[in-house]
Amino acid sequence: MPGEKILIVDDEKSMCQYLSIMLRKEGYDVVTVNSGKKAVRAVKESNFDVVITDIKMEGMDGIEVLKSVKEIDSTIPVIVMTAYASQKTAIEALNKGAFYYLIKRAKNEEIKMVIRNALDIHKVKNENVFLKKQLKKKSDFKEIIGKSEEIQKVFNLVDKVADTDSTILICGESGTGKELIAKAIHYRSSRANKPFVSINCGALPENLLESELFGHVKGSFTGAIRDKEGLFKVASGGTFFLDEVGETSPAIQVKLLRVLQEREIIPVGGTKPIKVDVRLIAATNADLEKEVKDDRFRADLYYRLNVIPINLPPLRDRRDDIPLLIDHFLKIATQKTGKVKEVSKEAMECMINYDWPGNVRELENIIERAVILEETDEITLDSLPEKIRNKSVGTKKIVMQKAQVTLECMAFYNVYL
Ligand SMILES: Nc1ncnc2c1ncn2[C@@H]1O[C@H](COP(=O)(O)OP(=O)(O)OP(=O)(O)O)[C@@H](O)[C@H]1O
Ligand SMILES: [Mg+2]
Repeated sequence: MPGEKILIVDDEKSMCQYLSIMLRKEGYDVVTVNSGKKAVRAVKESNFDVVITDIKMEGMDGIEVLKSVKEIDSTIPVIVMTAYASQKTAIEALNKGAFYYLIKRAKNEEIKMVIRNALDIHKVKNENVFLKKQLKKKSDFKEIIGKSEEIQKVFNLVDKVADTDSTILICGESGTGKELIAKAIHYRSSRANKPFVSINCGALPENLLESELFGHVKGSFTGAIRDKEGLFKVASGGTFFLDEVGETSPAIQVKLLRVLQEREIIPVGGTKPIKVDVRLIAATNADLEKEVKDDRFRADLYYRLNVIPINLPPLRDRRDDIPLLIDHFLKIATQKTGKVKEVSKEAMECMINYDWPGNVRELENIIERAVILEETDEITLDSLPEKIRNKSVGTKKIVMQKAQVTLECMAFYNVYL
């Protein structure tokens, strides 16, 4: 197929010429090099769909070329060629991940067929990787809505810090979108194709949390029947989201400090430190500064975590976003239930003036509930719970007018969808 790129590696000039004439005739884009070193450089610099390498070469041999190519991109098929067939080298090459082992005397038809197969398989593999990535992004990535000045400041900061490895501390009340922002940072960073691992430090007892985070060695406590890898290790190369970090015990805080300072962990019951490569994002809905003053949180850990603070404002401090979010959650509810609903002026006004102690999550739940329970096409005051309805008394007209003007949806990250 035109455009498919083949790299031929052989220190024998005539072989390079022979193969390149044959393959160019088939319409392939062919590059030839006469040493293993040059081959590795070429693969680093440009995308090849298949590599064909001679085995016996001065300096770097074909098996080493195969190994290096696989390290650079494990999906590129490598076909090894040799003048002298030897079962030992053939087995070695195939064990190291060669796609095929060809003898130079092979008929042209066989060579062409092996290359065609390698290219087809490479293509399908690449498509699979791409589709998997897309699917993952879609399921993991939700739109982030917000037009208010307060949330725009957060979005700008996310843009700036995403592609750094700096530790981030996200502070905000419950339901303000801390996890959503953490994921946004991960998916905008160069770590996006590696895991995003999150753990809620407040949800587990200390011992369990410790072995989840750092792993344990077999026999270190009753029930530790085999070695267990910690989540820090599972997140290798990716982002680790430590939710509710303010809930951690002093012992765990010491261990977290070690992760941040030394970039290594010691599993429970183990002695050998293990290197970890993760970007840390922590979140809290507590006032950590106060926790530090009250001696409930280690100051040194706080400063290590708080390299880049992101403060998520409560929804009541960015009421401009309420109509946008309502519109957004209505669309989601329509997708889920097939029901299309409008919101009455009074219901909208009332929701804009409510204080939303549970922030965006509370709003999301109220809209979903109203869409499911309301039998008519309109969400009215009656569709809302009493605590919100009570707010309709003495509503502020100015906020309402402003909200109507901004009632068009703005998606911050929809490029990803
Ligand atoms: N700006 C936003 N746009 C769209 N959806 C949002 C936004 N902020 C939050 N949400 C939604 O609100 C819900 C709560 O968000 P999230 O879980 O990120 O909050 P949180 O701060 O981590 O809450 P908690 O402290 O309770 O863990 C999620 O379903 C999330 O998708
Ligand atoms: Mg959360």
